[in-house]
Amino acid sequence: MNASIHADTPVRRERRSYDTDGPGQTARVGGRLAAWLAPGDTVRVSGDLGAGKTCFIQGICAGLGITEPVTSPTFTLVNEYDGQPGRVPVAHFDLYRLDDPASVLDLGFDEYLDACVCLVEWGDKFPEIMPSDAVTVHIEIGTGTRRKLEIAGDIELVADLEAAVR
Ligand SMILES: Nc1ncnc2c1ncn2[C@@H]1O[C@H](COP(=O)(O)OP(=O)(O)O)[C@@H](O)[C@H]1O
Ligand SMILES: [Mg+2]
Repeated sequence: MNASIHADTPVRRERRSYDTDGPGQTARVGGRLAAWLAPGDTVRVSGDLGAGKTCFIQGICAGLGITEPVTSPTFTLVNEYDGQPGRVPVAHFDLYRLDDPASVLDLGFDEYLDACVCLVEWGDKFPEIMPSDAVTVHIEIGTGTRRKLEIAGDIELVADLEAAVR
């Protein structure tokens, strides 16, 4: 856990964009982000179908030591990864099929926010129930295998991700 993300003082936020070429590079940015995450942290990931939201989250999960396959919980709505020694509990949401914030809360969203690293696909939906200090990742589809990742969060965290695309 990095102290700055949980400091009592307000987090200084910044937004930066990173260009990737290919899913490996997008996942690598996610893997770098993983080092900053602890239970209580949330990452909201947005972008069109096929942008690479799941790919980015797969990178985070790999970085968190999750070895089982990670797929979009499109129908299950939430997948949990926990129970292993030395691993943080992770909850992976896909809000695509949900129409209102109440149905997200019905999944036990608030409890997950406290207990887990929460990774949220279509995380730009329902801002009213999302933590204000969440890391946000918006993925724009470019030509071919190019993507633009717009990432906002703690200023040091966002700057650190640069190393993943160098
Ligand atoms: N730069 C890139 N980053 C992420 N995915 C990419 C990239 N280039 C091509 N792809 C492909 O785009 C698709 C992204 O799928 P996925 O991660 O499931 O998207 P989403 O969850 O946003 O619907 C994959 O087939 C992946 O191989
Ligand atoms: Mg997906």
